Amino acid sequence: MKKITLHTIQQLKANNDPISVITAYDSTFAKLVSESGIEIILVGDSLGNVIQGHASTVPVSIDDMCYHTACVARGNQGSLLIADMSYMSYATEDQTMCNAAKLMQAGANMVKVEGGEWLYASIKKLTQRGIPVCAHLGLTPQSVDALGGYKVQGRDEQSASQMIDDAVALEKAGAKLLVLECVPQDLAKQVTETLTIPTIGIGAGNLTDGQVLVLQDMLGLNRDFKPKFVKDFMQAPNVKSVSDAVECYVKEVKSRQFPAAEHCFN
Ligand code: KIV
Repeated sequence: MKKITLHTIQQLKANNDPISVITAYDSTFAKLVSESGIEIILVGDSLGNVIQGHASTVPVSIDDMCYHTACVARGNQGSLLIADMSYMSYATEDQTMCNAAKLMQAGANMVKVEGGEWLYASIKKLTQRGIPVCAHLGLTPQSVDALGGYKVQGRDEQSASQMIDDAVALEKAGAKLLVLECVPQDLAKQVTETLTIPTIGIGAGNLTDGQVLVLQDMLGLNRDFKPKFVKDFMQAPNVKSVSDAVECYVKEVKSRQFPAAEHCFN
């Protein structure tokens, strides 16, 4: 399989070809999703929920992230591999450099951090040192307690305008991708049109440059948690296996069939 690089991802945006992203946490699924045409694998700290059984991503450590990143890297057949920096592992610039290096040495091609303009200096330093960064705005699960729960973000004028300012600052700092989670579709569109880097949405409508879902959610395995933005691809027509479901997801992201209106916030 052809290796997907950051350059490939930038080309996809330039060609208006939607980018398919999915999470994986182990080598078996990493191999399966990369062979099913996924362009980016995210080793998300959502592993705290779906692998470890916690109620949030807060208990996940950088060692947990390194372990799962190394597992995924061994199975990956050529997708770009992004690893999440865990809760408080990038609280200071020194911690950020040291922990990002651990993830890169475990096999990541890029690291992801949650937050806005306050990350400017850290992202700049990582970028200068050759570590590509994916930023994450909107619902940032590591801040669930500060946000007062898992809620759609940017619904009022002030928070929407703050999100746009943050997005511009993150791009200026050097971020190469931006995840937008649980954001009204119009705001995600505005952010996407304002930036030159690709945006990847989850619960952010179908006008972002790409889509990401948690693997266990899109396979319908998470029976206690079914947010509006998730589609169970195991129930799609002609899907008989996990590979079929992932291939169907890729096809629907590429054709902008997914997310449909029923998966979006307005
Ligand atoms: O941890 C994760 O899986 C994520 C995605 C939901 C974007 O950050």
